[in-house]
Amino acid sequence: MSAYVSVVRSVGGYLPARVLTNDDLGRMVQTSDDWIVERTGIRRRHIAADGETTSDLAVQASRRALEAAGLEPSDIDLIVLATATPDYTFPSTATVVQGALGITHGAAFDIHAVCSGFIYALSMADNCLVRGQFERALVIGAETFSRIIDWSDRATCVLFGDGAGAVVLERRLVAEADGRGIKAVHLRSDGRYRDLLYVDGGPSKTRTVGHLRMQGNQVFRHAVTKISESVRETLAQAQVDISEVDWFVPHQANQRILSAVAERLGLAESRIVSTVADHGNTSAASVPLAMDVALRDGRIRPGQLVLLEAIGGGLTWGSALIRI
Ligand code: UT7
Repeated sequence: MSAYVSVVRSVGGYLPARVLTNDDLGRMVQTSDDWIVERTGIRRRHIAADGETTSDLAVQASRRALEAAGLEPSDIDLIVLATATPDYTFPSTATVVQGALGITHGAAFDIHAVCSGFIYALSMADNCLVRGQFERALVIGAETFSRIIDWSDRATCVLFGDGAGAVVLERRLVAEADGRGIKAVHLRSDGRYRDLLYVDGGPSKTRTVGHLRMQGNQVFRHAVTKISESVRETLAQAQVDISEVDWFVPHQANQRILSAVAERLGLAESRIVSTVADHGNTSAASVPLAMDVALRDGRIRPGQLVLLEAIGGGLTWGSALIRI
């Protein structure tokens, strides 16, 4: 067993100022507030301003996380940033953020696992810290899905929004961590399902950016079963019973998925942190954004057990259990 454990020191979130409501969308495509709320639970989403990029959102969320921890950017020696909507094909958005924060040491890289990206990034950062390679990481999920949405496709354009969330994760000696830290992580992917949720462009294939395409009802079906399985694996790894979990902080894609997963797992609705109404599906940003809200409003308290999960394009999926 490693001498180290990765502990969540703080969280920060950022949503762009511009809000797009369901009624706004009803003027753009054939849809309605009733349909969107009933089928998804989403009421509004935030859209980045012209010229506002994924790295801009990531920097704002990172500054808020650093402020909450009372840290300076120079205290960070690792940035792992999850995104499917990078500023550029290269360099990585993580290095853009590193530069913007004025950090000149350590390492920075991106993780590409779409909506599961934050769970993947958390796992990679955890491995680096527990190995003793780095001391303190910014783990970021940041997206500008508004740039890859087909705004004439009502089946997808109502679902997604822009945003960023960041977590400061730091290495502690197990003996000095008071039982806190990442207890278990479970990651999976299955490329047979890549056509269920994908972007129809890319530098090598089409030399374009492309637009998001999704067979929503099929992704829905996989989401409920695969997330439930993953959570069971994570709990078994940590030897924790579901009844011990204080808060369930799922990927915020659809309220019906959150509720169906919670029901399968035997988790009370009152233990679900749901922010999907306020920002829709922000892909890799959704889990840290929801964590931020529940930490700031005092629902999640120090010492509590928090269960995270996500599923997205690939398909990729995973879950993580953390004592905050
Ligand atoms: O983050 C990655 C993970 N992604 C997800 O988790 C998304 C998973 N999928 C979903 O959340 C749901 O499948 C959707 C919200 C996308 C769709 O809900 P659904 O209950 O699965 O509906 P559906 O796709 O089976 O479509 C039902 C009907 C269709 O009409 P017909 O064929 O029954 O006449 C659609 O054309 O709803 C229609 N429809 C809409 N109607 C009004 C689809 N989009 C809209 C819309 N407004 N925006």
